[in-house]
Amino acid sequence: MSKNIYKNRRDKLGALLPENSVLLLPGADLQYRNADSAFPFRQESSFYYFSGFCEPSSLVAIVNSDKGLSSIAFVPPKDKIKEIWDGYRAGPIGAVEDYMFDKAFDNTQIDLMLPDILHGNEQVLYSIGKKKGFDQKVIEWTTAASSKDRHSKSINITDASSLIGNIRLIKDDHEIDLIKRACDISAEAHIEAMKQVKDGDNEQFIESLYIHEFSKRGARFPAYPPIVAGGENACVLHYVENNCELKENDLLLVDAGCEFNMYAADITRTYPVGGKFSEEQLEIYKIVLKAMNAAIDTVKEGNSIMMPQEVSEKVITEGLVEIGILDGDPDQLHKEGAYKEFYMHKIGHWLGLDVHDAGDYMEGNEFMKFKPGMITTIEPGIYISSSSNVEDKWKGIGVRIEDDILVTKDGNENLTKKVPSDPNEIESLMS
Ligand code: GLY
Ligand code: MN
Ligand code: MN
Repeated sequence: MSKNIYKNRRDKLGALLPENSVLLLPGADLQYRNADSAFPFRQESSFYYFSGFCEPSSLVAIVNSDKGLSSIAFVPPKDKIKEIWDGYRAGPIGAVEDYMFDKAFDNTQIDLMLPDILHGNEQVLYSIGKKKGFDQKVIEWTTAASSKDRHSKSINITDASSLIGNIRLIKDDHEIDLIKRACDISAEAHIEAMKQVKDGDNEQFIESLYIHEFSKRGARFPAYPPIVAGGENACVLHYVENNCELKENDLLLVDAGCEFNMYAADITRTYPVGGKFSEEQLEIYKIVLKAMNAAIDTVKEGNSIMMPQEVSEKVITEGLVEIGILDGDPDQLHKEGAYKEFYMHKIGHWLGLDVHDAGDYMEGNEFMKFKPGMITTIEPGIYISSSSNVEDKWKGIGVRIEDDILVTKDGNENLTKKVPSDPNEIESLMS
């Protein structure tokens, strides 16, 4: 790991700060599952992006004053007893030596020192509303800083979510390598599951298979709770119970991606439990795949991020008219939003350190345009629950296909194409 990566990112962020301002990056705190059993620690993504530092309850201040740019870290203090129980702490000395902060202090000193750091500056920037209790802390530190000298300028509090998010939106080479690894591992897990699933398996067993395949390739955690949904469970978009028995003639929708070195992959595949699509399942599947391919084709530098959305809506509307689920003129039905009964979510989201990654979707009053280095998911679907007003033969079919697409200088790269989405390839893999 090159420590320069994180220092360079801080310098880049610092260069965008107004004069006489301080930007605050709060790290994550340890979270408890019950009593004194903590979840494995996961650092807050923006804090990690600009620090590479993975200890809880830390804080970084990037100061742009007339003395120049400096970054100050507050980290857990060295503590012999705590280190025996919970492991190594870098402490302030380690934070400066190993993470290239200009200065570092014990995090027990934050309340005492932050007002002094803010004093004399005109602006404090941070991501408002993201960390519980932090907004109140910033108000307290700012009030204490202002009250040090009633003749100094007031300190404005400014939201830095877009500033930080839009830096994270364009991935650098280091990040692209890690995301590619997360995508490869996740794709290999899907391939293994397709080969192994059989009639009578429980959804929970399939979930465990994914976790095992992630973990044995070096990705200990899924990037989000996997959705393992047999049959009609696929029509519940955020189904995570994963506790039903799979049936030979049902489709299985699995939305599962690992986190590798902090970076997420996000893949959905829908495949037949018994290894062979029924006629109706295949018809629905082919419409989703056509929408998927048409949408991916539009992920290109300069195109609006709404293009894949619109293209997928149109292909799905036309497909549903062709097979008789919708009735009428496809253009008119599209305008009316008739597809929303069966395709009710958006086509995708940014992907990176967070599975729904930071970064705006609008630039001013317009939708963002794709730029090289952005990574978006493309994930159209059709969901026909038993309560739908359609012929019985369609009921209980839910299909989503999801890939992770990197915008490049000459188009795009599908980072998850290793796992087949073509129905013939899926059937032959499963045979
Ligand atoms: N797996 C979360 C999503 O697809 O948005
Ligand atoms: Mn997704
Ligand atoms: Mn997903």
